[in-house]
Amino acid sequence: MSIFNRHQKLERHSLLLSAGILVVVAIGGLVEIAPLFYLENTIEKVEGMRPYTPLELKGRNIYIREGCYTCHSQMVRPLRDEVERYGHYSLAAESMYDHPFQWGSKRTGPDLARVGGKYSDEWHLDHLINPAALVPDTVMPPYAFLASKTLRYNDVADHMIALRRAGVPYTDDMIANAKADLVAQASPGADFDAEDGLLERYDGAAGRPGTVKISDFDQDPARITEMDALIAYLQMLGTLVDFTVYEADDLSNRR
Ligand code: HEC
Repeated sequence: MSIFNRHQKLERHSLLLSAGILVVVAIGGLVEIAPLFYLENTIEKVEGMRPYTPLELKGRNIYIREGCYTCHSQMVRPLRDEVERYGHYSLAAESMYDHPFQWGSKRTGPDLARVGGKYSDEWHLDHLINPAALVPDTVMPPYAFLASKTLRYNDVADHMIALRRAGVPYTDDMIANAKADLVAQASPGADFDAEDGLLERYDGAAGRPGTVKISDFDQDPARITEMDALIAYLQMLGTLVDFTVYEADDLSNRR
């Protein structure tokens, strides 16, 4: 009996064929997945990455809640037209603290991975209140209600604890001061000690100096709104890694 006849046997018995498929697929899976357990690190570390500040984290939650990802991606692909339009292509390390990541799969609007610092807070405020006022033929819906909704942040420390379990390096100090740090970032000039504390925890020790923006993002000093949090988040997107010094091929960046 030739080998072809034996194969005929396999093809004529659906149960036998299923078992055979399972074995072959399992081998493929093992070859792909098993090495990942032995690699020390699957993401190349890059200088400057820090966890989100409590206010940015709240803004990120609003971004997810409002479904901004259904129209906006957060991943610049390594293609020339994208790099020319948006800036340096995204690095894996840039979403290492994102749970869940916001790469997205659809671009009705532009990619937002590097939107931080591209516009002023006022621009974002006007744009989110009424996108059509700035871009007349836009299809982006208005989010004016965010400016009138007071931000609820009693649970922000719990969220940071949950993220720490997933591997985000929030320190005990960051968690203990979560609420104070959140208030400080949205209330410039109100409490300089609190601002120093925020910068010490996130700007200096954890990340690259100058990446934590303290501002009255929604231009309403009376209270902290969901708009404050969302703009704080947008303004830091893609700003953590300093691409004037980052070199993809420079081995000294790998540790
Ligand atoms: C229905 C699709 C849609 C949704 C949902 C949407 N956007 Fe947009 N967005 C667009 C389009 C289209 C543009 C480009 C025109 C413009 O600037 O309005 C845009 C532009 C932007 C820009 C300017 C980007 C740049 O580089 O010029 C920002 C920032 C932005 N959106 C943020 C958001 C946020 C935050 C949310 C969620 C609260 C959101 N968008 C939801 C479609 C959408």
